[in-house]
Amino acid sequence: MISRNRRLRTNDSIRSLVRETILTTNDLVLPMFVMEGNNKKEAISSMPGVFRQSLDLTVQTVKENYKLGIRAVNLYMKVSDNLKDNTGKEAWNANGLMQNTIRAIKDAVPEVIVMPDVALDPYSVYGHDGIIKNGKIDNDSTVDALVRMGISHAEAGADILAPSDMMDGRVIAMRKGLEENGFSDVGILSYAAKYASAFYGPFRSALDSAPVDDQEIPADKKTYQMDFHNSREAVDEVLKDVEEGADIIMIKPGMPYLDIVSKIRKLITQPIAVYQVSGEYAMLKAAVQNGWLDNDKVLIESLTSIKRAGADMIFTYAAPEAAKLLNK
Ligand code: PBG
Repeated sequence: MISRNRRLRTNDSIRSLVRETILTTNDLVLPMFVMEGNNKKEAISSMPGVFRQSLDLTVQTVKENYKLGIRAVNLYMKVSDNLKDNTGKEAWNANGLMQNTIRAIKDAVPEVIVMPDVALDPYSVYGHDGIIKNGKIDNDSTVDALVRMGISHAEAGADILAPSDMMDGRVIAMRKGLEENGFSDVGILSYAAKYASAFYGPFRSALDSAPVDDQEIPADKKTYQMDFHNSREAVDEVLKDVEEGADIIMIKPGMPYLDIVSKIRKLITQPIAVYQVSGEYAMLKAAVQNGWLDNDKVLIESLTSIKRAGADMIFTYAAPEAAKLLNK
């Protein structure tokens, strides 16, 4: 035997010398749930350790996490029922919760990259990412609404818009809207390959944004999010968004979709973001609570596997605890 692969695994020093993928805090983006009020913090039962917080506490959390090395946050609003309708117009209210949150974070920690979610579902009475016309999610009027929403985020100081809606043509429309309004430095991180996934369940309960069961419209998002049986289609979605001017491409969910990440990594030069979604987080925490998995080890292993597949950045609710582990 000439070649023995175990030679390079003999001890930790040699293993660290030949290590191919190293996870760091620079890879992490923290998604946050914001709600109205002051000094308010509510637990999300299916996501142990994750909270919905009022704006003041959100700013405090951003500060603390910045000190840990987390330099980017992704924002989601819990919208009260009386502000929801079928147009989503609260989404571009210049003094809406999102706009106020963006301003407050940029005031307190200007260095942090603020990525607001651009999608209508938290603002929709139907819990859909689009405007409903004649029983269907109407693509083009939704795109117009998303452009208004995105521009209002840019006006509030957002660094990178993160459209997660999966309407066709929204990246180019948003890029155009930003350029015409003097926001040529504001970037777009496009959820290009976002699948219609059952792993989003805990997120929808956190925001009370699940699609409603209405006779007229489907209670799922399969007419706009991708069919999880498909892989070639993801290539098409990604290449179109790159052509439309997306600066960063998102693939979502994470771990069950690493084949897609690895495939896309070979095809584009733009940075790839991967979202370890709420259901992935819930699975890990549930097993940990049962004493079946080691939290710290599985967390770092799962995040590293996402990076190994080709992610340049990872959106994860576990960013604060991962940062603490990585800083040890
Ligand atoms: C909504 C949106 C969703 C997530 C991010 N943005 C849910 C959905 O599409 O229904 C899911 C994130 C998660 O599950 O952690 N546009």
